[in-house]
Amino acid sequence: MTHRPLHLLLGVTGGIAAYKTAELIRLLVKHGHSVQVVMTEAATHFITPTTLQALSGNPVFVDSWDQRISNGMPHIELSRKADAILIAPASADFIAKLAHGFANDLLSTLCLARECPLMVAPAMNRQMWENAATQRNVTQLQQDGITILGPDSGEQACGEIGQGRMLEPEDLLEGIEAFFTPKLFAGKKILITAGATMEMLDPVRGITNISSGKMGYALARVALRMGAEVTVVHGHTYAACPSVTQDIFAGSAQAMYQTVMQHVASQDIFIGVAAVADYRPEVSSTQKIKKSEETLTINLIKNKDILADVASLPNPPYCVGFAAETEHVLDYAQQKRVAKRIPMIVANHASTAMGSDQNTVTIIDEQGNHSLETDTKENIAYKLLSYINTKVT
Ligand code: C5P
Repeated sequence: MTHRPLHLLLGVTGGIAAYKTAELIRLLVKHGHSVQVVMTEAATHFITPTTLQALSGNPVFVDSWDQRISNGMPHIELSRKADAILIAPASADFIAKLAHGFANDLLSTLCLARECPLMVAPAMNRQMWENAATQRNVTQLQQDGITILGPDSGEQACGEIGQGRMLEPEDLLEGIEAFFTPKLFAGKKILITAGATMEMLDPVRGITNISSGKMGYALARVALRMGAEVTVVHGHTYAACPSVTQDIFAGSAQAMYQTVMQHVASQDIFIGVAAVADYRPEVSSTQKIKKSEETLTINLIKNKDILADVASLPNPPYCVGFAAETEHVLDYAQQKRVAKRIPMIVANHASTAMGSDQNTVTIIDEQGNHSLETDTKENIAYKLLSYINTKVT
């Protein structure tokens, strides 16, 4: 399974958050989805159809009587091509219309006539959101099988602070991706380590590995979409940790070891993606080391192997390791799988994997080697997790 390109019908209604739909369309298109925009007349007062046409690459529709649809039925034609309709922003007025089945403009008619799923991202002032009528209408939409994305809380355009902000475009994209991902891991708990540990020499210097955290975070994001309860223990990364069930920072190998051991007991799957430093300085100076000497000798001692120790627990989760190598990639990875006594290891070449949004990996398990085509780390995550799923169910 990989990320599936979708045909989305994006309905924009009249609210100040309509300006964010420009960014949302850009993101959706960047992720391979196609977007057909339909706006209410009120929405055109906040952002122009020309802007959204340019970003989506498709003509924007507002009017039920638009002559560009040859059979004169845009409310049927436009939604039949869509995998889903997303209303973002959804005003209080539009939510009320949906709750009651009104069909007095193109967008509301289209929603009533749809065959595909409908997702709604409310955006309004906090009082409008908290109003009993709006809450009643939202409950009605949920009962009608409509998915509600958000809203968020925080600062509002009117200057007030509270619930009612539209979710950010990245979160809306995540909501859509999650909606279309089969829940392979429903009821399962997955613990993932990501990023690099830093072994401090003194308060300002340390020994580390190069790791962006992107592969571990992609696995966490996709595992969450697949319905898992996801805990991420991360070191230093160059990427933002996705909104998972629980994320914990553990900067050093020792901190990561302790954190993993504290959380591993109830896990079904453990995936060690973090680049954990093999050694740490025997002594970490409490003050900054001065450059008084010509040479400096640092004594290094070995860190404990988190993955090997998790795998040797009495009732271990299904353990998956990663091996980034610069030579003899498959041989070294297989040796690690055996040495750490783990059922599966994912081999990748350090030079192509590090920091990149793409990866080329080979899964090695008791059945042999299984190479995956070069792909985005997100698609690799889909494939790896789908494969892991066949081992744990
Ligand atoms: O032995 P090596 O570091 O090359 O193995 C890589 C794999 O082992 C990765 O999955 C990494 O997260 C894990 N590892 C670990 N604890 C260590 C070193 C590596 O869990 N101390």
